[in-house]
Amino acid sequence: MRIICSETYEQMSAKAAGFIAAQIHTKPNSVIGLATGSTPIGIYQKLIKWYEEDWLSFSKCTTINLDEYCGLPADHPQSYAYFMHEHLLDHIDILPENAHLPNGLNEDIHAECEAYDNLVKSLGGIDLQLLGIGNNGHLGFNEPDDCFHMNTNCVNLTPETIKANSRFFGSEEAVPKKAFTLGIRPIAQAKRILMVVNGLHKAEIIYKSLFGPVTPRVPASILQIVPDLVVCGDAEALSVIVREHPEAVEMF
Ligand code: PGA
Repeated sequence: MRIICSETYEQMSAKAAGFIAAQIHTKPNSVIGLATGSTPIGIYQKLIKWYEEDWLSFSKCTTINLDEYCGLPADHPQSYAYFMHEHLLDHIDILPENAHLPNGLNEDIHAECEAYDNLVKSLGGIDLQLLGIGNNGHLGFNEPDDCFHMNTNCVNLTPETIKANSRFFGSEEAVPKKAFTLGIRPIAQAKRILMVVNGLHKAEIIYKSLFGPVTPRVPASILQIVPDLVVCGDAEALSVIVREHPEAVEMF
């Protein structure tokens, strides 16, 4: 595990984007796992800039998104499909057929989950998985629970997540109550995992995830067992780790 601490969000985003660019330069047909949320937006801006400067091409890449709300069509402004198009996919040269998200409108939940897992398997797994972390330690929408949910599944969002995401919907009532999420297995089996975390409000949960017990009550704690984990954080998010385990942190 590498933990890389940058002073600011911009520096953290540039560092993390550099890992994604290096992955694509090394293997142009990489399968990249993508995340939504506020944290990766700076990374996506950097990737778009490098594409516009002709330094990076996504033409052979495939992307697999972590999650999607149940019941929202792809053109709903709060759907994750919409978010990905707005923040990345519409601004780079990825082939539309190579950019994947769960279909939030599929009412056959079992079929949708199985198809998504089979898609990842058919691609040979994920080369690099980008992850944010929820305030409660969730990965994608794998929420704290009594066990890790290994396969892609449809989850009931926790009250904390509904509250956290209500900032995008205007009210808690408007937030969908269920979402599809890639399971823990395809995430943890990614050949490399790149986690990004910023802000003081994430300092305790990232510390608990990386240095506390591995438990489904803190889904991100599963990352302690993955062979190639890079965590890029800003100084605020990594402040507890820097205080408790300064030897574990690289300053960038
Ligand atoms: P955030 O969300 O990047 O908006 O903090 C992360 C997450 O919930 O996984």
